[in-house]
Amino acid sequence: MNRIGALIADMTLAEKLGQLTMTAAGYTVTGPVIAGDSTDAIRAGTIGSLLNLYGGGQVHEMQRLAVEESRLGIPLLIAFDVIHGHRTLFPVPLGEAALFDPEAWELTAREAATEAAADGIAMAFAPMLDVSRDPRWGRTAEGPGEDPWLGAQIAAAKVRGFQGSDLAAAAALAAVAKHFCAYGPVTAGRDYASVDISERSVLEVHLPPFAAAIAAGAAGVMPAFTDLAGIPMTAHVGLLRGVLRGRLGFDGVIVSDYNAIAELMRHGVAADLAEAATLALKAGVDIDMMANAYRIGLPVALQRELVSMTEIDDAVRRVLTLKLRLGLFEQPYRRGASAEGAPALERRRRLAREIGARAVVMLKNDAALPLPGAVRRLAVIGPLADAADQMCGPWSLVGQPGTYVSVVAGLRSALLGAQVVHSPGVTIGGDDISGIAGTLDICSAADAVILCVGEAAAMSGEAASRACLDLPGQQRRLALSVIDRAKALGKPVIAIVFSGRPLAVPWLIERADAVLAAWFPGCEAGHSIADVITGQVSPSGRTPMSWPRAVGQVPIFFGQRPSGRPADPDNAYTSKYLDLPNEPLFPFGYGLSYGRFGLSNLRVSPHEVTASEQIEVRVDVANDGARAAEQTVFLFVHDRIASVARPLLELKGFGKIALRPGESGTVTLYIAAAELRFLGLDLRPVFEPGEVEIMVGPCADRSLMLVQSIRLCA
Ligand code: NOJ
Repeated sequence: MNRIGALIADMTLAEKLGQLTMTAAGYTVTGPVIAGDSTDAIRAGTIGSLLNLYGGGQVHEMQRLAVEESRLGIPLLIAFDVIHGHRTLFPVPLGEAALFDPEAWELTAREAATEAAADGIAMAFAPMLDVSRDPRWGRTAEGPGEDPWLGAQIAAAKVRGFQGSDLAAAAALAAVAKHFCAYGPVTAGRDYASVDISERSVLEVHLPPFAAAIAAGAAGVMPAFTDLAGIPMTAHVGLLRGVLRGRLGFDGVIVSDYNAIAELMRHGVAADLAEAATLALKAGVDIDMMANAYRIGLPVALQRELVSMTEIDDAVRRVLTLKLRLGLFEQPYRRGASAEGAPALERRRRLAREIGARAVVMLKNDAALPLPGAVRRLAVIGPLADAADQMCGPWSLVGQPGTYVSVVAGLRSALLGAQVVHSPGVTIGGDDISGIAGTLDICSAADAVILCVGEAAAMSGEAASRACLDLPGQQRRLALSVIDRAKALGKPVIAIVFSGRPLAVPWLIERADAVLAAWFPGCEAGHSIADVITGQVSPSGRTPMSWPRAVGQVPIFFGQRPSGRPADPDNAYTSKYLDLPNEPLFPFGYGLSYGRFGLSNLRVSPHEVTASEQIEVRVDVANDGARAAEQTVFLFVHDRIASVARPLLELKGFGKIALRPGESGTVTLYIAAAELRFLGLDLRPVFEPGEVEIMVGPCADRSLMLVQSIRLCA
């Protein structure tokens, strides 16, 4: 018998269930209610994992109780939400997605893992891989945006970054891909609401990022809180056992979301905790986070013969195997053993500054940016201008707010010769407009106005859905007053929008001279933004979600299927709105730079391919602007005639090229013909011969694309 088998054979039921129980630090499970302190339970071996504990000293104190004072000495698994950095905070994941740079995605996860491991943490509840096409849903901020292929690239990069090549390494964290799956299309964008979508959408839109995470070796998966057509994901045998463990071959640990097993009662599929625990265990959930359902419910379920000891042992084996792979048995105190030195932290701050700047998407620029060097007096207006504590977004648990850089601070340090005058005008969500008049005087006296508006950090993320996608509170009023005043005096207004989602603010985009979508840029926010505004960095971010004109267009995404009645302005009975265009204000992939790029000369070869071949796609890019900049090009395909209607655009690649003024170059992309298939409902690829369009463009706007057709041969 191997080590784990021997341990299991020696364990009492209570100890087994302990290994399946994850508790928030500072609490213990003392009955159906969670209260008190966890130390006794750790000693008794009835808690196997902790969340929300960090810091080498504290982690080791708890670890010592488990390793030295519990009967079997099994180490604890310490898990944490390491979402977009740990102590050093990078942009929110949606902002990072805008980089379209797998190396950068991997690097920030690597750095976050190193920092978190130095805090004693061994498992990250990340990456969050929920495709979102509905910006009302607050958790949009945590994820990869609207596209499954993009989500898959991010998934693989993040898993590589967190886990490295050896899970036992001192700086490696087990990655938990979440939230499996199809959490994004919650009804009406309301968090935790029911999901009811087609099997094909689940397979083609919501599964691919998870499949990529599993293929990259993700050690864990967390089921979503939500139900899919009546079956809560925490109890979804078909998806957890059938698809995840079966078809995707996942043999790692499934960790429930917070209290999710007990919530099976609220979902209306379990009458009591024993039934809830039974459903989750049967679906393959190994660790019960904070529901106390396994500890209380499974002994009862055993008595009722709803579950078997073998099923419990299987889950325990998976948990112990993960602890073994993490090196916890051999070296339980390795993570958190040494604090990181100042040079590592400084290097990471520099990285945060760079990534924060590269995440910025320039939505508009009527020659207002970069700011001319002659600017002497700058008005920096708005409730987000000097709001350092709002800059890191909703998941900044261990950041140090005192060290975050506001826009005002960043601009002051970048523009030493200029006077930077600030007034918030209004608060982010409040009603008081008495401060607006004062801001107008400041604008009158300035050479240019930087208007910092948007959401508070807590307005996106979990439990932060919004029915309106305009600026909260009185910010619209502030913005309109400021723009009117500046316009009257001929001064440029540069609007910076902070948000965890695309906002529907067409009025702002129309009136401001330049608009930057900054997302929540991270701890170096002010420096990142100053770098872009002053022209130190040419903006290169591309939006990973379509920007709607109005909430009524939501859900909005480029990968729509063709209609039998495509929109036709001359025909009323076609698929369109009476009051707005169908198209988003800014399509997926949109983003300006300080260069000016043109694409030409698309070359695709070969023109006839079989399933096993690769297609080479080349396009020339020229920068005929006056500044060096980087261009991103996107590769889309459209299978025009298939047995199942295919989306009008499917993303299959992207590439980047940096060019000096007047310079041109070639971007080469490859696509395996096998990628042109679609999935059958049995998850097997369907490869149909026929014509496929290969398109390359600067964003998901078909009118800007170069197109060639190839033939797929059997
Ligand atoms: C609930 C969230 O849904 C999940 O993303 C997170 O990892 C857990 N809470 C733990 O904090």
